[in-house]
Amino acid sequence: MLFKKPSILVTSKLPGNALEAFGEDYKIKSLAGKRAPDKKELKKLFAKADGAITLLSDQIDETVLTGSKVKIIANYAVGYNNIDIKTASEKNILVTNTPDVLTDATADLAWALILSAARRIPEGEKIVRSGKFKGWAPELLLGMDLSHKTIGIVGMGRIGRAVARRALAFGMKIVYADSRRLLPSEEEPYGAKFVDLETLLKDSDIVSLHCPLTDETRRILGRDRLFSMRKGAVLINTARGPIVDEEALAEALESHLFAAGLDVYEKEPEVHPALLKMKNAVLLPHIGSAGRETREEMARMAVNNIIAFFDGKVPPNLIPEQVTGVTH
Ligand code: GLV
Ligand code: GLV
Repeated sequence: MLFKKPSILVTSKLPGNALEAFGEDYKIKSLAGKRAPDKKELKKLFAKADGAITLLSDQIDETVLTGSKVKIIANYAVGYNNIDIKTASEKNILVTNTPDVLTDATADLAWALILSAARRIPEGEKIVRSGKFKGWAPELLLGMDLSHKTIGIVGMGRIGRAVARRALAFGMKIVYADSRRLLPSEEEPYGAKFVDLETLLKDSDIVSLHCPLTDETRRILGRDRLFSMRKGAVLINTARGPIVDEEALAEALESHLFAAGLDVYEKEPEVHPALLKMKNAVLLPHIGSAGRETREEMARMAVNNIIAFFDGKVPPNLIPEQVTGVTH
């Protein structure tokens, strides 16, 4: 052990019994059952703890990191845009995430949204529950056929590829945009075609976002790009809200797009009121990775990263920026 009885802050209750692995060697400060800590509280807690397990809703910015005693932050998510990585790296604070385990769960949820939005599932549910179902009708709730259509995947990482794998089973064509092109051997299993974002938006019937939120991707889908999408297309966002201009999306849903399926929002947990009014928007409360086994495994990963660090090893899920030593 690097330290005697390190103190570990856990900012929320986690599913499963992962924390038991800390045993008697660690002192656990869990905020389970309390309301989410604000920045001031986080700063105080970070000044006292040696390690922390944080949620994507905990804003770990420069203020929190200034005067922090924490040496490792294990973020309970694959995305880590809630942490100021540059400042953490400058202060030699390691950051880990939970990649891979949640890839299939998140791709499943993206597909739940694709099917719900294309086939108007929530509208149908509402008709039945409100007693308005009057019998089969040729033109009741006509939606979008998926077979032979094109899906455009923005961000062909692990989750993007898992979404592409499912798209093949639905008989769809696949195009993708990314900051780097995959190797031909990586593209081949999906028959996926690499295009620029403009072409992807113009040519896709379904556009699904799977890129991380960075300075480069913030609001890449602004008003102009949303209206440059194919008329009658569907937008799916299970990545991060600020990638899309929500107000412009509500406008595009009125006149240009067929539907949208969203799991994430610009100012989570707030949802733009204009979106709440659109019945062609399917809205979920950020549950992309919310399979029970997935969420329990994410907790084990976070704990294992912390334990590895205090055992003097390299944490297995160090974020890529810190593996290569490059910060951006
Ligand atoms: C969820 O959004 C995650 O980043 O894991
Ligand atoms: C995240 O897991 C990704 O690379 O898609």
